[in-house]
Amino acid sequence: MHTARLHRRDVLTGLAAVAGVGSARAAAGTIPYGAAVNHYLLPESTPYRAALARHCDVLVGEGAMKWSNVRPTRDTFAFKDADACVAFAKAHGLEMRGHTLVWCEDNPDWVNALTSATEAERELRRHITGMLTHFGSTIRDWDVVNEPIATKPRSATDLREGIWPQLLGPRYIDKALHIAAEVAPAQRRVLNEYDIEGATPRDRLKREAFRRLVLDLKSRGVPITAVGLQAHLNGTVEIDKDGVSAFCAEMTRAGLDVLITELDVNDYDLPGDTGQRDALVAKRTADFLSAVFAGCRPKLICTWGITDRQTWMPMWFKRRDGTPNRPLPLDSEFAEKPMLRVIRAYCGGV
Ligand code: XIL
Repeated sequence: MHTARLHRRDVLTGLAAVAGVGSARAAAGTIPYGAAVNHYLLPESTPYRAALARHCDVLVGEGAMKWSNVRPTRDTFAFKDADACVAFAKAHGLEMRGHTLVWCEDNPDWVNALTSATEAERELRRHITGMLTHFGSTIRDWDVVNEPIATKPRSATDLREGIWPQLLGPRYIDKALHIAAEVAPAQRRVLNEYDIEGATPRDRLKREAFRRLVLDLKSRGVPITAVGLQAHLNGTVEIDKDGVSAFCAEMTRAGLDVLITELDVNDYDLPGDTGQRDALVAKRTADFLSAVFAGCRPKLICTWGITDRQTWMPMWFKRRDGTPNRPLPLDSEFAEKPMLRVIRAYCGGV
């Protein structure tokens, strides 16, 4: 996204040399802005489609490319929803990123019923190969492993539990990255993690565990190329600014791209007043982005949805006062909120 957002097509010159997602659209010197696209809403809502086309450089499927959606059975790939998102992105000149090739969550029953390491490795390979082959050069940026760290780690080496580590051990992460690199060596390979931004003991431990994992992979030559900070921020939890900056700087020194992949602000405990709430959401976004930018220049700022009309927030964080959540850059009527201005400023390199 750049400051003259609506005229970005006019400034698309000489960008072919800039590698990475969104480079075909975002103006030189700017950072691409992306949003998760909901494949249910896409065909239904004209203003939704218009908002995505108008504001975004990049899209990522909110659920369209997850195993639960793409792999109804062991022997089938169901690409319909994902292909619809890709077609929309292409029609509007947007890049598409992939989310996610391996995750301990959101797997179909047949995956959770796998029983041996041999079977698990075979299916992992089949899936990653099938996805990367199908999307080819259309998707150059993949969340290869999502949320590898334990939800509430007890130590800085505590990984998330699930079918993949259960059957393959912690090296499921290595395997996924190696397979992805074999099949599509030119694509960006991201390890994506959440709750590593807050100034709480739990977030600090998660960040340390993530940091150790990433640096260990790098030191062993496992082909990771980027880290994703999901950045599901909490309106009532301060950002650990020094910690986030130091983390981003260290990742950059290690030769990794840093991406912000799922930004939104949990407003569960924020005041009911809309103006006040929107200001606090924007403030938290600015706190976070200033911390990131103090340590690195991220390659992407992507929010988890674009409009308050469609957000995963109420699944877990429905507000007690009954008012709808407001975690995203546009309100439910697609009007721009202060959060968008903050993101725009950072994408513009301010
Ligand atoms: C969420 C989606 O937004 C929901 O619609 C879905 O039902 C569950 O998953 N971290 C991730 C995302 O990496 O895939 C999750 O998306 C949100 C948390």
